[in-house]
Amino acid sequence: MKVVVIGAGRIGKLHAENLAYRIPGTSVIGIADVNQAAAQETATRLKIPRVATDYHDLIGLPEADAVVICSATDTHTDIITAAAQAGKHIFCEKPIDLNLGRIDRALEAVEKAGVKLQIGFNRRFDPNFRRVRDAVIRGEVGTPQRLHIISRDPAPPPISYVKVSGGIFVDMTIHDFDMARYLIGSEIEEVYASAAVMVDPAIGEAGDVDTALIVLRFANGVIGSIDNSRKAVYGYDQRVEVFGSEGSIQTENNYPNSAIISTAASVRRDLPLNFFLERYSESYVNEMKDFVTAVEEGGEVPVGGFDGKQAVVVGMAARKSFDEKRPVRLSEIS
Ligand SMILES: NC(=O)c1ccc[n+]([C@@H]2O[C@H](COP(=O)([O-])OP(=O)(O)OC[C@H]3O[C@@H](n4cnc5c(N)ncnc54)[C@H](O)[C@@H]3O)[C@@H](O)[C@H]2O)c1
Repeated sequence: MKVVVIGAGRIGKLHAENLAYRIPGTSVIGIADVNQAAAQETATRLKIPRVATDYHDLIGLPEADAVVICSATDTHTDIITAAAQAGKHIFCEKPIDLNLGRIDRALEAVEKAGVKLQIGFNRRFDPNFRRVRDAVIRGEVGTPQRLHIISRDPAPPPISYVKVSGGIFVDMTIHDFDMARYLIGSEIEEVYASAAVMVDPAIGEAGDVDTALIVLRFANGVIGSIDNSRKAVYGYDQRVEVFGSEGSIQTENNYPNSAIISTAASVRRDLPLNFFLERYSESYVNEMKDFVTAVEEGGEVPVGGFDGKQAVVVGMAARKSFDEKRPVRLSEIS
């Protein structure tokens, strides 16, 4: 399968490298970035034959089977639409967009073209979280009653990023909203978000928050919570628990090693893997393998356009809840 990659930033480099070296049977035939030096550097490193500053030049290549969109969020819907109209299958990073009208129009273009669209909710492909989902499906903990997600970053992003990110709920918590829907297998109906600025006043001055506790109510009756912080001094903190009528299943953080140092003073270990590129490396390979399989074998993609939109809707409801200091039903968001 021949793929073109749009965007050669943090995540574009990672997907291009996975496609070039870790996904059997795929090759990257071109990479585009408005920053030509960034595209060229990745092309040289990975031996990608074509470089472009205008993504249309690559999307139009007749031999390209699929487009992997890793550019800035505000470019996603235009590129999805152009790729769909060119008849290419699409993998697009989250979020699809921050505007529901634009999301709907892009999803319509995909539907009309009959191409596949997978959204980059990579955490679904993490072996720990997948085991929790499998336990829920098999009824290993009985009927789920509560879900707890702890999701804390090691350090906040630069303020320049915060300003264009759309805010913590659609930038960071969006992964947790998708994880919540995935683990419980039911739609979120209502959101209550309590949030504050506790890490960096500049984040507040940019109109955002850095600390949040969010309560979710699902259609099947489950109550969930998401605990977010932009700064956990001990590193990336990514844990979940599903509590049910017959027990609970929980996951721990991933560590670079399993060594435990015991002395007269303390029992200690090294810090967890520091951030998403290390913690979720396996999930990025797994999600792309599944995308390639769906394209080659003609099956369903595991995370589709509806999933991509729904996580944005929940993020918008969370922001509305925080602004209006009340629980918000998803039906209020249009
Ligand atoms: N799934 C994940 O874990 C994950 C992690 C990080 C980022 N992301 C998402 O991936 C996207 C990119 O994030 P990033 O951290 O790699 O950002 P980044 O700023 O490192 O890279 C984005 C790249 O896109 C390029 N670009 C901007 N407009 C373009 C255009 N019109 N055509 C071609 N290239 C263009 C920029 O020059 C830049 O090199 C965002 O939507 C982000 O939300 C997802």
